[in-house]
Amino acid sequence: MAKGELNVRVPIVSTDEVGNLATSLNDLAEDLSRYQTNRKEFLANISHELRTPLSYLKGYIYALKTKMYETEEEYDKMLTILDDETERMHQLIDDLHELSMMESAQFSLKLERIDPNLAVTQAVERIEREALAKQLSVTTSFSNSSWILGDSVRFNQMMLNLLHNAVSYTHSGSIQVEVTESDRQVQVIVTDTGIGIAEGDLPFVFERFYRAEKSRKRSFGGSGLGLAITKQLTTLMSGTITVTSVVNEGTCFTLTFPKAQEVEE
Ligand SMILES: Nc1ncnc2c1ncn2[C@@H]1O[C@H](COP(=O)(O)OP(=O)(O)OP(=O)(O)O)[C@@H](O)[C@H]1O
Ligand SMILES: [Mg+2]
Repeated sequence: MAKGELNVRVPIVSTDEVGNLATSLNDLAEDLSRYQTNRKEFLANISHELRTPLSYLKGYIYALKTKMYETEEEYDKMLTILDDETERMHQLIDDLHELSMMESAQFSLKLERIDPNLAVTQAVERIEREALAKQLSVTTSFSNSSWILGDSVRFNQMMLNLLHNAVSYTHSGSIQVEVTESDRQVQVIVTDTGIGIAEGDLPFVFERFYRAEKSRKRSFGGSGLGLAITKQLTTLMSGTITVTSVVNEGTCFTLTFPKAQEVEE
């Protein structure tokens, strides 16, 4: 293991301190090995995610240059694809940049008191049209009267990520957003009646580039960064995010934040 062979394990022969140390070393090797694999996958993913839109751009620019269209409609369609692919690449680069900033010390949030009820209402308004286009109903319920401490722009971004996922991965039914409170915490719960996430995928959905459905068509979903960003932001606001899901029944994301007065005291 000391030579960097991370698949080697230290035999555990006792349950005393030495045994505990051996267990810790094995755990560390496992973490490092996973980190190494993630790093490799991460780089492979970035190049794949950039290469795909680039080849679309190249292909369609060539088609436009050589006038490979017959009607105005075809011409417009090509321009729309170019526009979408450029936007997709832009989004990917923005997301990557943001994630790397969040992971460095340079990133700071503008913390202020947020009314989660109002923030949720505003985010829901933003995705209502998207949901309506798929004939999905969106309902909200509020049994909370507390504030949380957070960055309102980032809170909105987190909510939009969750709501956008709920709409994208739900074919029929509804999306429900609930804000509740307990003694010290506020919870925001986003539930959908969508395709769900398999149990084996659940622990990984917050990892960068992780997509539960690998062979997904390009039109379905993005690059797998939304939840990684949401989790980072939640942590930066002293919150947690958890997920439960049943395939073909739906998914439920729960954000939990301390109440503002708990953090300010
Ligand atoms: N509400 C949901 N229902 C079913 N699957 C979901 C849901 N939310 C997330 N997932 C799964 O988790 C994966 C990661 O989600 P994430 O938001 O990080 O990435 P994405 O939606 O693929 O791309 P983007 O970066 O545009 O958000 C998704 O690809 C999808 O497989
Ligand atoms: Mg997403």
